[in-house]
Amino acid sequence: MKNRAFLEINGLKLKYGDKAVLDGVTLKIEPREVLVVMGLSGGGKTTLLNLLLRLMEPTSGTIMFRGEELLSLERRELNRARTRIGMVFQNAALISSMTVAENLALPLRELSDKTPKEIDKAIDEKLELVDLKDAREKLPGELSGGMKKRVGLARALMLDPELVLFDEPSAGLDPIATERIDDLILELKEEHNVTSIVVTHEMESAFAVASRMAFLDKGKIIFDGTPDEIKGTDNKVIQKFLAPYLAHERTGELHHANS
Ligand SMILES: Nc1ncnc2c1ncn2[C@@H]1O[C@H](COP(=O)(O)OP(=O)(O)OP(=O)(O)O)[C@@H](O)[C@H]1O
Ligand SMILES: [Mg+2]
Repeated sequence: MKNRAFLEINGLKLKYGDKAVLDGVTLKIEPREVLVVMGLSGGGKTTLLNLLLRLMEPTSGTIMFRGEELLSLERRELNRARTRIGMVFQNAALISSMTVAENLALPLRELSDKTPKEIDKAIDEKLELVDLKDAREKLPGELSGGMKKRVGLARALMLDPELVLFDEPSAGLDPIATERIDDLILELKEEHNVTSIVVTHEMESAFAVASRMAFLDKGKIIFDGTPDEIKGTDNKVIQKFLAPYLAHERTGELHHANS
């Protein structure tokens, strides 16, 4: 087999009207990496993830996924590629007239040939993963924000994807649920060889899960490196972004040293 990257994004551009939201994004992701993408609000993170699922089309650029150019795939092949990619949407994006179980069944009904019995089993399995077995027959409107988020995560895992895109998976969750999601991201990598891209503002989570970190600013990747490298960056925007976390980390160490 050719030596090729798992996912390779090159020169990706997207404009809304005449505003360049992504202005030539280039990123390479190896299997089993957890790439954390950070950036200021409105910087284009969600847009980038949406492009990877081809929920919208870029102005230019290429996206190679497992040796295939995603952007030139026809509907059938695109759907096949999409079975390998799970997305946890920032706003959960559940269908409000359907129960949790029906929401979770949807990707399997549309993109797999699993029997109703197999689908039922997969629903239980994924709900168990996110600690929500009791929510099976509930409607999204009956769930809290954090519960919806976890259902969105369960849905992203329904097809046992190789690549999972997490858009703010722990925003609005309590610290315990947040830690549970962090653990799940690592578990997916360790036990199922899943590769992840995680967009997050929660620095503690970011450093807990990341094998690599990238910073998106004004449509460009201005940093791409290891968690240790980003802590030492001399870029002012990133320093400011990380400052509260790093200060907290230092205080933690001080407490530790004094105790
Ligand atoms: N459908 C759309 N039409 C026009 N502009 C859009 C659309 N979606 C997003 N934008 C603009 O694109 C820019 C990037 O938005 P995006 O949602 O990708 O940012 P983000 O980095 O995910 O921000 P956040 O951290 O707040 O989630 C913003 O300026 C936003 O206003
Ligand atoms: Mg966003």
